[in-house]
Amino acid sequence: MPDDQPIPQVRYRSMAEATKEEYELVFAEFHAFQAQIADRVLAELRRLEHSYPGELVDRLVHSRQTATRAFRDGRDEEYVVASLLHDIGDLLATGNHSEFAASILKPYVRPHTYWMIRQHGLFQGYYYFHHFGLDRNARDKHRGHPAFEMCVEFCDRYDQASFDPDYDTMPLAAFEPALRRLFAREPWGAHAKEQGGYSERF
Ligand SMILES: [Fe+2]
Ligand SMILES: [Fe+2]
Repeated sequence: MPDDQPIPQVRYRSMAEATKEEYELVFAEFHAFQAQIADRVLAELRRLEHSYPGELVDRLVHSRQTATRAFRDGRDEEYVVASLLHDIGDLLATGNHSEFAASILKPYVRPHTYWMIRQHGLFQGYYYFHHFGLDRNARDKHRGHPAFEMCVEFCDRYDQASFDPDYDTMPLAAFEPALRRLFAREPWGAHAKEQGGYSERF
C-alpha cells in the first residue's frame, strides 16, 4: 500500500468478535511490520554500545568481535549473524539474555543454531562459575545433545575470546547485508524444518 493511503482499520474491540476478513486485514499489515524486523534488530544492537562498563570493550564491540571471529573462521552466514546477536538481550533481559537472543532468532535459523544461542550463557559458565562457588561443568547436563559440541566450540573459539580491544573487529555495517538476508527468510520456513525441526512454535 502506498504511504499516502490511510491504513484500513478493523472494527472489533475484542478478538472474540473479529471476523476472518478483519484478521486477514490485520495479518496483511502484520507481515509488512514483520518485514522491518532487521531494522529493529540493528537499532537494538547499536544500543549495546552503552553497556557493561568495567570491561575493555562494550557489548557492541564484543558482539561484533564474536561475529568477526566466526566469520574469519569460515562459519556460514546464519552462524555469523547468530553470533552477532548472541548478547542482544543484555539490555532488556539481563537475567536470561541467552533466551532473549535465541527467541529473536528462532523462526529464522536452524534448530541447532537456536539451541547454541539459547544455551550459550550456561556454557560460558565454564569460564567463571567456579570463581563464585558454582559448577563450571554445569553444561554437562546437556551432553549428548546434537548441538552440545557446537555450543562448546562457539563459546571457546568466539564468545569467551572476544573481549580484546586490540583485535581487528569488523564494523556493524559489514554484517548488515547478511543480517538483512537472514531476517528476510520466511519465518518458520525450510531452515526451521531441518535437524528435526522445532517442537514448539507459539
Ligand atoms: Fe552472552
Ligand atoms: Fe557474549
